[in-house]
Amino acid sequence: MTSDLTISSEQLRRSAIEVLQLNDLGTMTSAGPNLYPHMWSWDAAFVAIGLARVNVPRAITELRTLLNAQWSTGMIPHIVFSDNDEGYFPGYDRWGTALAAARPAGVKSSGICQPPVHAIALRHIVDRGRENGGADQAAAEEFLRDSFDGWLAWHRWLATVRDPGGVGLIEIHHGWESGFDNSPRWDGPYTAIRPGDVEPFTRRDILHVADVSERPDDAEYTKYLWLVQQMASVRFEDAAVQEIVDFRVRDVFFSAIMAASSDVLAGLAEEIGRSSEAAELRQLTQRFRDGVASTVDPETGLARDYDVLAKTWISTDTVSGFAPLIAGGQPEVLDRQRDILQGPDWMGYPQLLFALPPSTSPSSPAFRARTYWRGPVWPFLNLLLGWACSRDGQAGLHETLRSESLRQLSDLKFGEYYEPFTGEPLGSLAQAWTAAAALEWLGSSTAPGAPDQGAE
Ligand code: SER
Repeated sequence: MTSDLTISSEQLRRSAIEVLQLNDLGTMTSAGPNLYPHMWSWDAAFVAIGLARVNVPRAITELRTLLNAQWSTGMIPHIVFSDNDEGYFPGYDRWGTALAAARPAGVKSSGICQPPVHAIALRHIVDRGRENGGADQAAAEEFLRDSFDGWLAWHRWLATVRDPGGVGLIEIHHGWESGFDNSPRWDGPYTAIRPGDVEPFTRRDILHVADVSERPDDAEYTKYLWLVQQMASVRFEDAAVQEIVDFRVRDVFFSAIMAASSDVLAGLAEEIGRSSEAAELRQLTQRFRDGVASTVDPETGLARDYDVLAKTWISTDTVSGFAPLIAGGQPEVLDRQRDILQGPDWMGYPQLLFALPPSTSPSSPAFRARTYWRGPVWPFLNLLLGWACSRDGQAGLHETLRSESLRQLSDLKFGEYYEPFTGEPLGSLAQAWTAAAALEWLGSSTAPGAPDQGAE
């Protein structure tokens, strides 16, 4: 597939850098200028990947700020609040994390987590530092050594607290922890929730989008807030939360990121002479790869989540079904997945403007073209898929994702997500991780063996 950008790589690069500058709050990057005026955990990892292409020290600052918010348990919270309390709900006060004993003093954060993409970002920082040499290299190597124990504690917390049975799947306690907030994946678990008294609230997210259908609805928000209230009632203590919370799901996509990231962190551990930790992380990689593979439905070839409270598998036609492609591992599972991904229900769906996977298959009855995680295309996810293709030597698929992503992002809007048929940018515009994805696609050229089809 060829790229037919009408703008130059340099224009795209300049615009993407401007978006990161627009969102730059000094020591953190807001996820989006209006809708998301704070730092989000997995957004920050992708932002660091993009920043590493233009400013290695600033990329380090991003991850350092996030790590400074790490709880004493090892948990990295999903939001680190900036001082801007205007645009976003629920803010720090509503979270109730002021009473959480594990939260570090002086840092305002939420009390749940998001997928651990951070070691992959750290790998990018180290690689860019080494390419640049000099002060960038020294800073990146120093950051790797200084921060390693923090990332290790994060992976250990996930492995012990969120997978105590060692099944190789991470249990989440809120749809927000998956990052796929209102995906059809969570319709079953949320339908079963009967919220108690939820304190009155006024949403702010819907003030920042052109059309409210781009966001979750009020009934969904009531349940989101009910879960926050439940967790706050036990001060976000891990064991107590698991006892009382109404949402307990083994998230296959989160688990796949755990596998991939543990593998990357193991490689970094070896480079700094931490061989026993490297061996421990390789074991985690295997455990979570096996866990992810165990969820694959033999009929559909797609991975599934597991509802712990209902004791049922959750089968959906969502992009999370491709979790094994992120986790890596068994070639026969991955080959079949790549065929499905490029087939007529996904990247080959005839009406798509760009050959990029929608968050929910357009062939599914659950598909909604404009609604958040129910259909739109998410650029950061395509970058993650592309990264996994590169890791696995899949040059052709990597190049398709890259050239199609660059065509999509050449509108220079940097949408949070995109309508799959028209290419309309939706949600927040000038979204930081979308700009970061553009910078990484531009900088990463092609996977080994692929022809170089630049953005011009
Ligand atoms: N993604 C959620 C939101 O939209 C919070 O993590 O606000």
